[in-house]
Amino acid sequence: MEFQSELQAPKLLKAQSHIWNHIFNFINSMSLKCAVELGIPDAIHNYGQPMPLSQLIASLTVHPSKTSSIQRLMRILIHSGFFTTKNVANDDPEVGYVLTDSSMLLLKENPLSVTPYVLAMLDPIFTKPWHKLSTWFQSNNPTPFEIEHGEMFWAYACHDPKLNEFFNDAMASDARLVNKLLLDDKCKGVFEGLESLVDVGGGTGTLAKAIAKSFPQLDCTVFDLPHVVADLEGSDNLRYIGGDMFEAIPPSNAILLKWILHDWNDEECLNILKNCKEAIMNKGNKEGKVIIIDMIIMEDEKKSDDNDKSIETQLFFDMLMMVLLTGKERDEKEWAKLIFSAGFSNYKITPILGLRSLIEIYP
Ligand SMILES: C[S@@+](CC[C@H](N)C(=O)[O-])C[C@H]1O[C@@H](n2cnc3c(N)ncnc32)[C@H](O)[C@@H]1O
Repeated sequence: MEFQSELQAPKLLKAQSHIWNHIFNFINSMSLKCAVELGIPDAIHNYGQPMPLSQLIASLTVHPSKTSSIQRLMRILIHSGFFTTKNVANDDPEVGYVLTDSSMLLLKENPLSVTPYVLAMLDPIFTKPWHKLSTWFQSNNPTPFEIEHGEMFWAYACHDPKLNEFFNDAMASDARLVNKLLLDDKCKGVFEGLESLVDVGGGTGTLAKAIAKSFPQLDCTVFDLPHVVADLEGSDNLRYIGGDMFEAIPPSNAILLKWILHDWNDEECLNILKNCKEAIMNKGNKEGKVIIIDMIIMEDEKKSDDNDKSIETQLFFDMLMMVLLTGKERDEKEWAKLIFSAGFSNYKITPILGLRSLIEIYP
């Protein structure tokens, strides 16, 4: 093969640019992290109108020798859609920075803020294992995370309070956003008529607390590893139980599994689902169900330029599960196989959560 010496210059340069773009893709992530750490979204929000560069610089804690670099950071973040500019006044040519829908979600005071998720996922604890991905492919180690840190993720979180706290905060921030959509009038029906619900792997209980509040008759339980639920206090219709979902799950009318099954491989998922089935059957109620919130990888035929970014984001999550845990994201066929192999007879998918879906499965 003559390699690419015969390629026309435009094609050759396009290929080079494509590679450069991928080499430096992480700069988007790190610029975003830096903006959050410097408090740029909050500074612009607090200003209350388009914020000129000079005002932004004055409001940030930045060393005097670095002030001229803020404009460059803002330029790439405008390019990636986190900020935009507007004239500071109708008849004034001066422009100021304003937030976009995405940076509104980065405001610390926004109840739906995803800031804890940004800071957790871009912490070196999570980014370092990526350098071990090819080593993992060539070894029999269970995960790149385990190669980097010497133990599996959940074991590490058990004895590292810092990781345990920021991971649980990150999950809670996601749960707040999901609450809003799930407990919306259109979706509330999912929980109607249920007597009891166990949120398996429910973390510190953000989602279960909101469900318990919306459905005062529903008896809710958060079931998670002992170190996650230790010292957490329940309320009238909410309690915390520490345990291991691979051993047994408390009997209940319904089980919620939000962002659980994608953490585990098929064999592990079968084990969890069988324990879920036993838990809903032991409650003696044939109407019981398991409610899963997870991604369904979009099929090829649904691919279009419009949802290209969504597909890429789903594929990012799939790789993330490979690096941190033993899990994966699944397409509908893989979900169906898992559900039927675990002894369930039917499932219903409601795609109401953007990149994720609500999957109800019935015994
Ligand atoms: C990705 S987090 C999801 C948390 C929560 N469901 C949410 O979406 O916000 C997975 C959860 O599973 C819990 N977990 C991991 N292994 C477990 C086990 N063997 N038994 C019970 N919970 C477990 C973790 O502690 C963590 O809270």
